[in-house]
Amino acid sequence: MKVSPSLLSANFANLTPDIEMINRSECDFLHLDVMDGVFVPNISFGFPVMKAVSKICTKPLDVHLMIVEPQNWISQVRDINAEYMVFHQEACTHIHRTVQAIHNAGMKAGVSLCPATPVNTLEDIIGDLDQVLLMSVNPGFGGQPFIPQVIEKVKKLKRLIIESGSKALINVDGGVNAETGAMLSEAGADIVVAGSYVFGAADPEEAIRSLKNLPSRI
Ligand code: DX5
Ligand code: ZN
Repeated sequence: MKVSPSLLSANFANLTPDIEMINRSECDFLHLDVMDGVFVPNISFGFPVMKAVSKICTKPLDVHLMIVEPQNWISQVRDINAEYMVFHQEACTHIHRTVQAIHNAGMKAGVSLCPATPVNTLEDIIGDLDQVLLMSVNPGFGGQPFIPQVIEKVKKLKRLIIESGSKALINVDGGVNAETGAMLSEAGADIVVAGSYVFGAADPEEAIRSLKNLPSRI
């Protein structure tokens, strides 16, 4: 399983030791949750913080934009050398145009779905996507309980990806721990995001390893 720890649960008063832990760990990405107080009822951090983080983080950045009008921020996301720019289906009218613009900026493109948004809304764009981020909580906060309906969505999405020959990876975000991670791995997830499970652990590197050791691509 690929693992993308979320910085949202790190120590905002002193991020450096947490990023050094990320660099040392076996994780594959660092997940950055951007919130605007409009699309979601919370505000997290923005580009000046992510720029500083990008200078000391050696893992590829997986940027999750929980903001309206995500198409307006493509060059700023590119400027922090993000690997993935992921935006919400519910926050963007012209998904196809935005995905093309992300690719033209040299990044991989991902679309995220809230728990109530069906997988089949991506049927006509799946071939162009590099990642689909299924929310297993309502976006806006860390530490919420896992919504189990996402397991069926992972299975449906897996079928859609196989049928369409898409290269998109399935990422799942919210309430992930060793137990829910195992369910996601069995359902066909390729990446899991984990915030409180990693940063709330006595040994965060071991928590990352427990997810990393789950099988993927079943
Ligand atoms: C929620 C964010 C998540 C969050 C996950 O809106 O997108 O990435 O940090 O936190 P946990 O793993 O604590 O549910
Ligand atoms: Zn996220």
